[in-house]
Amino acid sequence: MAAPQPAAPHPAGGRTVLLIVCGGIAAYKTLELIRLLTAGGVRVRTVLTRAGAQFVTPLSLQALTGERVFSDLFSLTDESEMGHIVLSRSGDLLVVCPATADIMARMVTGQADDLASTVLLATDKPVMIAPAMNVRMWEHPATQANLATLTARGVAVVGPEAGLMACNETGPGRLAEPARIAEAIFGHFAAGVRSPSLAGRHALVTAGPTHEPIDPVRYLANRSSGRQGYEIAAALAAHGARVTLVSGPVDIPPPPGVELRAVETAIQMQDACQDALPCDIAVCTAAVADWRVAQTSGHKMKKAPGAPPPVLTLVPNPDILAQLSLPGPARPALVVGFAAETDDVEQHAGTKRLDKGCDWIVANDVRPETGIMGGTENEITLITADGAERWPRQDKESVARHLARRIAAFFSPDRSVP
Ligand code: C5P
Repeated sequence: MAAPQPAAPHPAGGRTVLLIVCGGIAAYKTLELIRLLTAGGVRVRTVLTRAGAQFVTPLSLQALTGERVFSDLFSLTDESEMGHIVLSRSGDLLVVCPATADIMARMVTGQADDLASTVLLATDKPVMIAPAMNVRMWEHPATQANLATLTARGVAVVGPEAGLMACNETGPGRLAEPARIAEAIFGHFAAGVRSPSLAGRHALVTAGPTHEPIDPVRYLANRSSGRQGYEIAAALAAHGARVTLVSGPVDIPPPPGVELRAVETAIQMQDACQDALPCDIAVCTAAVADWRVAQTSGHKMKKAPGAPPPVLTLVPNPDILAQLSLPGPARPALVVGFAAETDDVEQHAGTKRLDKGCDWIVANDVRPETGIMGGTENEITLITADGAERWPRQDKESVARHLARRIAAFFSPDRSVP
């Protein structure tokens, strides 16, 4: 079978990906990834580990890529055709897919006992990993520490996604869909050409309302849908960032490839944000309740005939945005807050930016006649140290895409927006 031909010219066309296929049930999805990449004009060379060969055959990889498959560190044939050092530098990007807990650990410790690990150690090219493993393995502190080390070294991470896995457990650990991995790869290649990338960056996004308990069945809440924050999390992930989404209770599913930390109260949201540090970017869209009930009741509060209604004493909640903005070594390089205003939007939002200590404020006019609150569209003013910028009215997904582009530009060497 011949390798599929490019469907249309693509900015990634002419680039080469060295795809390292490791052992995992998700390895079969790399076949679809190869199809998408070659259709986009990308040349794909593969390294297949011994464990990977238990899940996909060299023949299928060879058929889809139209290239020979490399698998053995000590193969005379391989070495005579292309030495492993040359191979490690032969692609424009190395992609490990699926990246098992094992290969991540071996990348961290710099082992070189097979072709895949040797190539990863010897390369001078950018590396992207698409992890896939059991949820407990993914959540294990060892894997999370390895992930943090790899991210800090500039390795880009795509996924994993949450959902039901082959092992019948549910949670984060499922390989990102091939289309999402292909998008991240195309995004990486396009970065040098058109738009900047956030590969290797960690973004923290807060979203949704918080629920502040009164008793076991009652709580204080607000009408935030979480939609804008979820769109921003998705847009940052599409730029290649690793995204932790700390969300209060909402009715929408988490975007694929984003790590969700579901919380209820402001205190839990604060704790989850602290746990997610360090990060490069924090975007606080959550409608955090300003107050919580000082003394929650451990049992359902009852009406008693003739008794006066209970009096709720409220105490202020922590300001998560202000805390994340505090100067210090753990401060994200870019902290973005949101401000819903009903009058003098620019002036109030400008003051809020200084009060909270954040870098940017995304301000919107939420007067009822704008229809923005709870709606699908948004009309925002971006307030930075350089001044206020009014954006035309657009849907929330489009706001998210533009904001993600601005954030990516902030991290690009010349900070220019393409
Ligand atoms: O103070 P105000 O609620 O107007 O500020 C809005 C901004 O501050 C939003 O970015 C929101 O996510 C953040 N915020 C927070 N913690 C709070 C209150 C607001 O992070 N307790």
